[in-house]
Amino acid sequence: MYLIASDHGGLDLKTAVKDFLRERGIEFRDLGTENNDSVDYPDFGEKVARAVSRGEAEKGILVCGTGIGMSIVANKFPGVRAALVSDEFTARMSKEHNNANVLVMGGRVLSPEVARKVVATWLDAVFEGGRHHKRLEKIAGLEEEIRKGRI
Ligand code: RB5
Repeated sequence: MYLIASDHGGLDLKTAVKDFLRERGIEFRDLGTENNDSVDYPDFGEKVARAVSRGEAEKGILVCGTGIGMSIVANKFPGVRAALVSDEFTARMSKEHNNANVLVMGGRVLSPEVARKVVATWLDAVFEGGRHHKRLEKIAGLEEEIRKGRI
């Protein structure tokens, strides 16, 4: 199950991404926001990132105006590897090398056409493992050190 959320700045692009996910037959839940009223992106980034961090959802997609705020919020959560991407190359790398479990995009940065390509690339890419696995383990180790108050 994929989770998706946005603030008002990402609403239109989120709508385009949801259409694309439906076309692909991918099951998802939209955790808001639902209209153009101004909201705070941390409130919506938290919903997706918390669920991914707890293992309640496999992956997530977040959209705000630039994608920057959502990526900052999402990466606060242990086990979340949120990647702010803006093209097909970074989308592919984010999965192959970083095993990103949250894809972040800027609704005021990407056209719907580019976003569809970015999402398709991220969905289809496969984590390469190997030397990249060791690096992700180091990130998990840092999270553990922080959790224990050592950092
Ligand atoms: C909202 O105006 C905007 O600041 C937000 O969508 C996002 O770009 C923050 O990083």
